[in-house]
Amino acid sequence: MAAQSDGSNGFSTQGAAVAAAIGGLAIGLMANLGRKAVIQGMTAAAGEWDQALAAEHEATLMIFDKLQATTETNVAKRKLLLMQLKHALAKHAHQEENVVYPAMRANGLTDEADELNKDHGYVKQFLFDLTEMEPSDTLWAPKLSEFRAQIEQHMREEEDELFPSLREKLGDVGNHHITVAMNKEGFKIA
Ligand SMILES: [Fe+2]
Ligand SMILES: [Fe+2]
Repeated sequence: MAAQSDGSNGFSTQGAAVAAAIGGLAIGLMANLGRKAVIQGMTAAAGEWDQALAAEHEATLMIFDKLQATTETNVAKRKLLLMQLKHALAKHAHQEENVVYPAMRANGLTDEADELNKDHGYVKQFLFDLTEMEPSDTLWAPKLSEFRAQIEQHMREEEDELFPSLREKLGDVGNHHITVAMNKEGFKIA
């Protein structure tokens, strides 16, 4: 490229800007990978797939606790906590729907997996309804309570009944395999 009238080289200026942008992108990607590693690391540290999912259930209920401690005047706080809840549930559902429920179907628990999967659809419905409502609406808290009651029931079915049932069918090697596969999937969404 020809030198510009001011003596600067247009290409090199542009090239430097592109290089800086790429460098910035690389740093951003690295930071994002680090953040993902920390988030998924917390899941993995909780143990095998079923223990890790139970730990995520507990963490999710803690977000509900915080939300239920708010009032109609805490609009910004409700929005922020709802966003955290959405993110936590998106990662959790991705792990269950992409690894655990398919493993259930592969081990004769098809109807049970389908029922759980249907519940996840209604989790999204509650999240949608709460997002659409104004957090200052007096009906917001009752909607949240209804959501919590349903999701706790779902968690109880998973933890007390269906996950132990799958664990028993999988055996040591199978359980380890599902743990690794689940953490791989969780990392994508973390
Ligand atoms: Fe679930
Ligand atoms: Fe779950």
